[in-house]
Amino acid sequence: MTLKLAVLASGRGSNLATFIKRARQGRLEADIVLVLSNNPAAPALELARQAGIATWSDDHRVYGSREDFDRNMLEAIARVGADTVALAGYMRILSAPFIQAFPGRILNIHPALLPAFPGGHSLRDALDYGARLSGCSVHFVDEKMDNGPLVIQAAVPLYNEEQQDDEARLHARIQEYEHRIYPQALQWLAEGRLRLEGRKVRLLPSAQPGFVLSAPAGAGLVCPPLEKF
Ligand code: GRF
Repeated sequence: MTLKLAVLASGRGSNLATFIKRARQGRLEADIVLVLSNNPAAPALELARQAGIATWSDDHRVYGSREDFDRNMLEAIARVGADTVALAGYMRILSAPFIQAFPGRILNIHPALLPAFPGGHSLRDALDYGARLSGCSVHFVDEKMDNGPLVIQAAVPLYNEEQQDDEARLHARIQEYEHRIYPQALQWLAEGRLRLEGRKVRLLPSAQPGFVLSAPAGAGLVCPPLEKF
């Protein structure tokens, strides 16, 4: 069923741009009814306006509490009747009442392979740690940060050898995959194919013939690459 989607974004909005594009192409069954931000200067808001999508924003710092701010967002979302919320670079923790208002209907994307490197510095943390693989994760949102059940992940290599990695390069490499896995997760939600089973998410088979759930042989990612030995 077509999602009535509210998107929360604090920054650039490249994930939002992907949702808009895919929805227009008919590849994502979503009607993006509202884009909300805690940063009235967020480029994501301008992107939404240009696409003819309604926006709501306010500076969270003028509110007495997180709950007060979230209550206003909830009211704005209720006015447009959204049934699903996608966090796309929303840099605030949501209050419990907000999360409880959309059980099993809030997704987030995080730029690391959770449960590794949660939090706001995941790119730097992965680089400092010397991780060989990181990536991105789409997960359901629960009341702990970067913690809810995982829907889909993509692994991306980190390069420590010939080309020294930095946060910007790693982020660009990760975002290429964010823009693929996040619309996919939303489309699965639209198709009613994500079943929450405790901490796990089961992907139900597609109604389309030819759906294969198992990964092809040799699909693993190794970094640095294996040499012949
Ligand atoms: C993404 O890297 C996402 O994983 C993180 O915030 C960033 C948002 O990017 N939560 P954009 O604003 O969608 O370009």
